[in-house]
Amino acid sequence: KPTMVTCTAPVNIAVIKYWGKRDKDLILPVNSSLSVTLHQDQLKTTTTVAYCRDFEEDRIWLNGKEEDINQPRLQSCLREIRRLARKRRSNKDSTSDMSALSYKVHICSSNNFPTAAGLASSAAGYACLVYTLARLFGVEGELSCVARQGSGSACRSMYGGFVQWKMGEKDDGKDSLAEQVETETHWPELRVLVLVVSAERKPVGSTSGMQTSVETSKLLKYRADSVVPGRMDEMISAIKRKDFAAFAELTMKDSNQFHATCLDTYPPIFYLNDVSRRVINLVHRYNSHYGETRVAYTFDAGPNAVIYTLQDHASEFVQVVRHFFPAETNGGQFLKGLPVASTT
Ligand code: DP6
Repeated sequence: KPTMVTCTAPVNIAVIKYWGKRDKDLILPVNSSLSVTLHQDQLKTTTTVAYCRDFEEDRIWLNGKEEDINQPRLQSCLREIRRLARKRRSNKDSTSDMSALSYKVHICSSNNFPTAAGLASSAAGYACLVYTLARLFGVEGELSCVARQGSGSACRSMYGGFVQWKMGEKDDGKDSLAEQVETETHWPELRVLVLVVSAERKPVGSTSGMQTSVETSKLLKYRADSVVPGRMDEMISAIKRKDFAAFAELTMKDSNQFHATCLDTYPPIFYLNDVSRRVINLVHRYNSHYGETRVAYTFDAGPNAVIYTLQDHASEFVQVVRHFFPAETNGGQFLKGLPVASTT
């Protein structure tokens, strides 16, 4: 009879973007990053892991379809958790039962949002996998280092609220981990709105895209060395003060610089489309109409817009979006199943 554990992990949306690795195998970034983790009942991954002495091999199913377990990143996570479990058991009690550590696992994972929509599914996915495996094998403590080896952005989904991923300096990556900046109750008025511009799979994935950027973009190096360090400090301070205008401006500027880095990549990478650019213009026009920054946009490696705003302005902005994008909203593309999502 298998022993099993089920856990969920939420998506995180970066406001200071991670783009570029200094070590591809350990997944060590060229700059620190910062994100907001969504609430558990919104965009999330649910994973069940079971072990049993009768299982003959490790296996994984994603959204009901069996996938290759031999992917290097999956293997890194499995290996790391088993290593930590072994270390913990041998430290604690040399007589404790070690046999379960040699049992094979079956993993079932699913998202409550379209994987293809480019909505950071790998972040929630690897965070959930690592957390569930750790529970099953009785591993505690710092796990963001393990999740990072599945997908960089996954390390930030190990915590709720406002989370920074400190790039670290060491070659072995021991100091490249996620840290909570403020908890999920810190800024209850903050709202996140996802505009699904396209549910198509992105043409250039983030892993290969950022690799080409590291190899060809001078702007990426300038950004990592001279822009992000100061921006991280300013962003942390804006979050702590709950200064929405400062938070919003830094978020939009950082998204724009990330996409500028993609254009500076050779050959260039285009993630934004015409609808994305219309959303950008709409946000700026909306803010200047009120003479204050009430809404911010940010885009990851795809055309979908993520909007940050405050509770007081959320429903009005949704109306504005519906007004200016009648075709998209009627077609059910926009706002599809993803209404205003609170962060608490
Ligand atoms: C644009 O974490 O998906 O969403 O580490 O290669 O798995 P890998 O990349 P990934 O990159 C995310 C890039 C981003 C920005 C961010 O989330 O910070």
